[in-house]
Amino acid sequence: MNYRFAYRIGFHPWEDAATDLPFVEKVSELFDREERGREPPYGLALDLGTGSGIWGIRLASRGWQVTGVDLVAKALRRAHERVQNAGVEMRLVHGDVTALQAAGIGHGFRLVLDTGTFHDLNSSQREAMGREVSAIAAPDATVLLLVWPKRRRPLIRGASRSEIEAAFPGWKVTDVESSHFRLPKLLELLLKPDEHWYRLRREEAERGE
Ligand SMILES: C[S@@+](CC[C@H](N)C(=O)[O-])C[C@H]1O[C@@H](n2cnc3c(N)ncnc32)[C@H](O)[C@@H]1O
Repeated sequence: MNYRFAYRIGFHPWEDAATDLPFVEKVSELFDREERGREPPYGLALDLGTGSGIWGIRLASRGWQVTGVDLVAKALRRAHERVQNAGVEMRLVHGDVTALQAAGIGHGFRLVLDTGTFHDLNSSQREAMGREVSAIAAPDATVLLLVWPKRRRPLIRGASRSEIEAAFPGWKVTDVESSHFRLPKLLELLLKPDEHWYRLRREEAERGE
């Protein structure tokens, strides 16, 4: 997917997920799990490939201190506007998910969210993203990745569980759950999203629990 071009022509169908009730409810359930037993502020959260900031803003409004990073300046301009309209605090950074440290993202993120960036990267970009996330995430961090399965289709590569595990050595997939996302019928047939949430935790943290 050429995201720069997509934003230039106003093509961003992933934003429709924000009004897809079953999808939104599932996202809330995932956030609830990471917040359980704690009081806000919940800590640092990083929204990778934040786009226009939809999900980062949700996290910020729930009491997370959120940074959103994206490669496309136009997406970030839209995110800036959305953040202002929402009346929340969210830091926006122009940077690459494969070079988070160079972008000055910081450290200690308890929640790392990716709604659709990892699964369209090539394998060396995926490895770099995994390495960078490992470097900036807190010891007890959770990573939530929204992934389409790997199959031949236009636009989005998709990723298998073993590719996710290979990109995140030292992390354990704890849960794989349907996102309940549905495209309009024709696009559903063409693109077969069959999208799932992957939840990852550091192996050490899992052993300690
Ligand atoms: C499918 S869109 C999802 C946007 C947003 N997370 C959402 O759900 O509304 C993927 C986003 O990842 C961004 N992106 C793709 N490759 C990236 C990279 N290497 N580094 C940073 N952002 C990237 C794109 O610009 C785009 O905004």
